[in-house]
Amino acid sequence: MSIRVNMATSLDGKIATTDRGKIRLGSDADIRRIAELRTWADVLMIGAETVRAEDPPMELNDTDACLCRRREGREEHPAVAVVTGSLNLPVGRTFRGPGRRLVVTTDRAPDPTPQLRAAAEIWRVGDARVDVLALVERLAAEGLERILVEGGGKMAANFFEHDLVEELFLTITPYLLGGDYAPTLADAAGVFESPPRFDLVDIESTAEEIFLRYRRHMEAE
Ligand SMILES: NC(=O)c1ccc[n+]([C@@H]2O[C@H](COP(=O)([O-])OP(=O)(O)OC[C@H]3O[C@@H](n4cnc5c(N)ncnc54)[C@H](OP(=O)(O)O)[C@@H]3O)[C@@H](O)[C@H]2O)c1
Repeated sequence: MSIRVNMATSLDGKIATTDRGKIRLGSDADIRRIAELRTWADVLMIGAETVRAEDPPMELNDTDACLCRRREGREEHPAVAVVTGSLNLPVGRTFRGPGRRLVVTTDRAPDPTPQLRAAAEIWRVGDARVDVLALVERLAAEGLERILVEGGGKMAANFFEHDLVEELFLTITPYLLGGDYAPTLADAAGVFESPPRFDLVDIESTAEEIFLRYRRHMEAE
């Protein structure tokens, strides 16, 4: 199992505005980087709030990369998993397109609408909240071992809280968003008991952005 998080932030560390309005932070270079990471992934994970805010298309728009995956005996397109406790999801662009679609929810969630049931497999993993450890196990059992968490902040926090994130890919974009309550890339409900530390392993820059790659710090034995 290998888990990566990829997100773009403003100069002041926000991933969106306070009202979670639609805003594109990354440039075309960032979009190419997203495609590279999606090529690596077996499954792309996003939180329900991101689907409600953006209804993002979750595809690998790179024919060569798809062919390459097929030659390696993998699915051409990564699966997409949306995590939600409420099942309040628009059945729009996120649920269209190639690749398996999963909605991961809880035992307490209401029955899905017929539209949602037709658009995705519904998994119930956890009682009050989706149990991320159990989810990762279930994904692995289905051969979905490379997980790319694409946001938002609450979604990613699940993985940081359980110290599951192996690598963090961060794009620093040239905007200042402000806002006390604007989301950040790890919006955990509480504070981390022991703040996870990451080592910077790669840095690239263009005229407008910085691409950072961090790997989970391992204490020397
Ligand atoms: N800059 C970037 O790279 C980037 C990337 C992605 C998203 N975004 C932006 O980030 C904002 C959304 O981020 P966000 O932190 O507010 O929300 P989010 O992480 O996208 O979604 C949060 C929602 O996911 C569900 N969820 C997450 N963990 C769960 C768990 N363990 N059990 C049950 N449900 C769980 C809940 O859905 P329910 O409410 O349905 O129960 C929760 O309200 C949007 O504005 C989006 O555009 C930016």
